[in-house]
Amino acid sequence: MFALFQELQRYVGFGEADERALKALHPLLCDSFPAVSEVFYERVLQHADARAALTRGEKHVGQLKGTLVKWMNELFTGPWDQAYVERRARIGRVHVQIALPQHYMVSAMNVVRVELRERIALVIDERSPEGRAARDALERICDLDLALMLHTYREDLEQSQARSERLSTFGQLVGSIGHELRNPLGVIETSLYVLKGRPSTDERTLKHLERIGQQVVLANEIITQLLNLIRDRPLNRGKVELAQLVAEAIASVPEGPVSFTRPPPLEVTGDAIQLRQVVVNLAQNATHFAGPEGRVEVCLTSTPTEATLTVDDSGPGIDPSIRNRLFEPLVTTRPGGVGLGLALVRRVVERHGGKVAATRGPLGGARFTVTLPLEEEA
Ligand code: HEM
Repeated sequence: MFALFQELQRYVGFGEADERALKALHPLLCDSFPAVSEVFYERVLQHADARAALTRGEKHVGQLKGTLVKWMNELFTGPWDQAYVERRARIGRVHVQIALPQHYMVSAMNVVRVELRERIALVIDERSPEGRAARDALERICDLDLALMLHTYREDLEQSQARSERLSTFGQLVGSIGHELRNPLGVIETSLYVLKGRPSTDERTLKHLERIGQQVVLANEIITQLLNLIRDRPLNRGKVELAQLVAEAIASVPEGPVSFTRPPPLEVTGDAIQLRQVVVNLAQNATHFAGPEGRVEVCLTSTPTEATLTVDDSGPGIDPSIRNRLFEPLVTTRPGGVGLGLALVRRVVERHGGKVAATRGPLGGARFTVTLPLEEEA
């Protein structure tokens, strides 16, 4: 990413003169950074879709204002080196992870740009050479930072394309192995049936026959899940009342209890069975990680354009070692888990034109956020 940054620096003509101008501006402007940050988040809070990205609630905004002030301090003091670029890339990835739509980045950077531009005009004569240099330097560094932010969205898109290619190769392989395994499993099941039909009082024999039976069921279940994942059953689209669907799906999770404050009816177009599976998988994971004493909270909200489902748990949070591969098939930290639940969630959600993201949640554990478009032609 640093090579890209250097290339962009050449493109926008960012050089030592800009670095000097930014450093000279810093002491003149830094007192106004908190005010710029205020305006920035006021604007975020005015827009329902942007506000929805505040995954840790609006209370968290106070802390975010502080991070934006720090970001502005770095914007003006640099050094604009590799470490700077890596920090910026990390910030960009935070936004990708919380599923903040990319278009907000351009407008958000404009808010910063306009606010800082106005404040520069208050401390330097804009028509003087220093004034022009200051303004040019601001425009260039904002362009560069915006480019870095947008690049992280592009990285995400490329990764998701690579993922779907991998999934297609994986799918072909799994499809044929799955089908091949059904036959021997069928033979084991038949033989088991025959053996169980023979009178035996040997407890160990009975116990092992029982075990074989359980494992055959499990193996068949794994194959079914894998085949479901790769088969891409066509979506059986229809009108779905999402609030009702979520309530029913949650009620079917045996580990409960899951709290769900049911909103007014909310209609989407989609495949009810597959969407129900999404909710069940997320709720099952959440109850597992929250444990018997923990809490799981499900919330469904909507804007005119999309529905958002959040599933929060009070568990230990997402294991950092699998954070980047969380939605890939066969990745799991659940003892005995196969690692297909979340892969299926993402597949179904994306096929409905939606997105799923995982972040830290307000209950201290994980938060899964599913957004689904409300338009017909999603
Ligand atoms: C110029 C544009 C923006 C800049 C420079 C910026 C800057 C930052 C920074 C520095 C962080 C801290 C990252 C970290 O944890 O290391 C952050 C996080 C965050 N930003 Fe932004 N931001 C921008 C746009 C937005 C917009 C438009 C929203 C709309 C809601 C937003 C919402 C958030 C949220 C929710 C987090 C915290 C995520 C989490 O830790 O759970 N940001 N941002």
